[in-house]
Amino acid sequence: MSDLKLQHLEKIYDNKVQAVYDFDLDVRDGELIVLVGPSGCGKSTTLRMVAGLEDISKGKLLIDGKDVTQMPPKDRDIAMVFQNYALYSHMTIYENMAFSLMLRKENKNEIHQKVLAAAEILDLTAQLNKKPAQLSGGQRQRVAMGRAIVRKPKVFLFDEPLSNLDAKLRSATRREILLLHKKLNATMLYVTHDQTEALTLADRIVCMSMGHVQQIGTPLELYDDPANLFVAGFIGLPPMNLFDVEIRDGQAVCDDFAVDLSDEERNRLAAYEGKTVTMGVRPENVEERGRITVDVSTNENLGLNTLVSGRIGSHKVTCKFRGWCNYKAGDAISVSFGRKHFFDKETTNAIRG
Ligand SMILES: Nc1ncnc2c1ncn2[C@@H]1O[C@H](COP(=O)(O)OP(=O)(O)O)[C@@H](O)[C@H]1O
Ligand SMILES: [Mg+2]
Repeated sequence: MSDLKLQHLEKIYDNKVQAVYDFDLDVRDGELIVLVGPSGCGKSTTLRMVAGLEDISKGKLLIDGKDVTQMPPKDRDIAMVFQNYALYSHMTIYENMAFSLMLRKENKNEIHQKVLAAAEILDLTAQLNKKPAQLSGGQRQRVAMGRAIVRKPKVFLFDEPLSNLDAKLRSATRREILLLHKKLNATMLYVTHDQTEALTLADRIVCMSMGHVQQIGTPLELYDDPANLFVAGFIGLPPMNLFDVEIRDGQAVCDDFAVDLSDEERNRLAAYEGKTVTMGVRPENVEERGRITVDVSTNENLGLNTLVSGRIGSHKVTCKFRGWCNYKAGDAISVSFGRKHFFDKETTNAIRG
């Protein structure tokens, strides 16, 4: 097994576009790291630098302590699973999985053992004699993973492997990747723009925006303690509600409401007395009783909980209440805010006291 060090990696393309700035991360042996961020933020570029498919403009890449920055892809012992899992249509599933080992002229018997073992892990044993066209989309995706597994690479790379699957298959395949990670105990780097995938899969998340790493941490750390406004808005669904408020005499005040601050919040905001900050409240932290009036516009029952959107004066707000609700457009409901996050308006960084 293997650890991976990405040391201050930068990528400047030939057309002078800088796609990645100072990407610095130690991946521990067996860790599943998810790179998440909106389209164009530099996720694939970072992954392709690790794979050796793009030159590293600055910085170093180490696998198991060895500097591989200049090493060609085929010598890095890395397997990449793409979104478009191109299988050879004229070959059986067995042959698809054995192909790379046959190219390497490995012993037939050993190839056989490796393919059977990978098929077992991926629940493909009964499909080995079939052709790709006879398999479902999810099974084909598993074959693509099988082709990577048989090579026993040091590191697995995934670039949005689920984005071609429909919603139901996507969550099923997501669980399979989790199981696979457990069974193989493999070091994995996984790229997605989907914050749900990041929260559910990752040991640690790297959240990126415009080529810059915004925060690295466990899913709970990014959810519960986002480092800045970007992470606060990107992680969590529906996104956090944001309000500009003035900190004044133990309250957070705006045109339409004022909320009392706890002792802990007052301490955290001590340096901001008389200043305006951004206050964030997750929909699930809006509580269904209190002194703030929400004018309801929509009510969406999701089964376990209900999304209620509306306005507090001129501010839009989304609430996620437990259980089944039957609010109607035009209803006025009283709410309060539970856990609150505060961000500096200039730096957009979280105010942590
Ligand atoms: N081969 C390339 N040449 C020049 N610019 C590129 C190339 N590939 C990607 N880019 C640019 O680099 C940035 C990051 O792209 P990418 O890493 O593909 O983002 P993501 O995978 O997060 O969507 C984008 O602005 C993209 O247009
Ligand atoms: Mg990409």
